[in-house]
Amino acid sequence: MPAYSAIILAAGKGSRTHLDYNKVFYHLDSNHTVLDRSLELFESDPDCKQIIGVCASYEKDYVEKNYSKYSKLSWTVGGNTRQESVFNGLQKVKMPVVMIHDGARPFLKRESLEALKHMMNFEKAALLMTPAIDTIKIVDESGYVVMTPAREQIYHAQTPQAFMTDLILQAHLEAQKTGIEGTDDAQLVERFTHVPVACVIGDPSNTKITNPDDLDHLVQD
Ligand code: CTP
Ligand code: MG
Repeated sequence: MPAYSAIILAAGKGSRTHLDYNKVFYHLDSNHTVLDRSLELFESDPDCKQIIGVCASYEKDYVEKNYSKYSKLSWTVGGNTRQESVFNGLQKVKMPVVMIHDGARPFLKRESLEALKHMMNFEKAALLMTPAIDTIKIVDESGYVVMTPAREQIYHAQTPQAFMTDLILQAHLEAQKTGIEGTDDAQLVERFTHVPVACVIGDPSNTKITNPDDLDHLVQD
């Protein structure tokens, strides 16, 4: 696995959690916030040479002060959308491979990270996914089912997502030019390049904290 940089996204508002602060600062225990847990695996991985934290401009002083113990971490300011925040983070990447990870996913397992790293020995783009459990329906605007894709082909995309740095930069630049806003980074590679995106089976526990319910049901290993 080549040396890599990690981008950890923390520039959102966490509005859907209905906390009165950014969900990444939620305490999982007395010593660790969601963001701590999202940073730790990368800080302790010798192959990770640089961590770029992406934060809101009004929280930059706060994170620089409160997350100063992470020796690889430096902060840059994000944008109005997740995609803009990633793009800003990409400007700081120094390594040939970059992992993009949601700061709101604190339960990433080391085995999953290692599996993704292993895949990047052979591929230019890869992401963690889990197979769909429910049957998925495509529904039209009037509320009628259009089709039911074969469940064996449906996966949930997670982060981290790993890319050759020049590839994901190029995909983001194309997206910007055409005004396309994606909900993850892999889809920009799918859409704007001919490079295949490889599937690495992750773990269902690697959830993104999104709704108030996710905070109620937090269980630490
Ligand atoms: N994110 C970001 N910059 C943005 C929006 C989101 O860096 N402009 C980050 C969030 O901090 C989060 C990750 O992207 O770690 C995934 O986004 P999401 O779960 O949507 O988080 P928020 O946008 O903060 O939450 P909400 O949409 O409920 O406001
Ligand atoms: Mg959001």
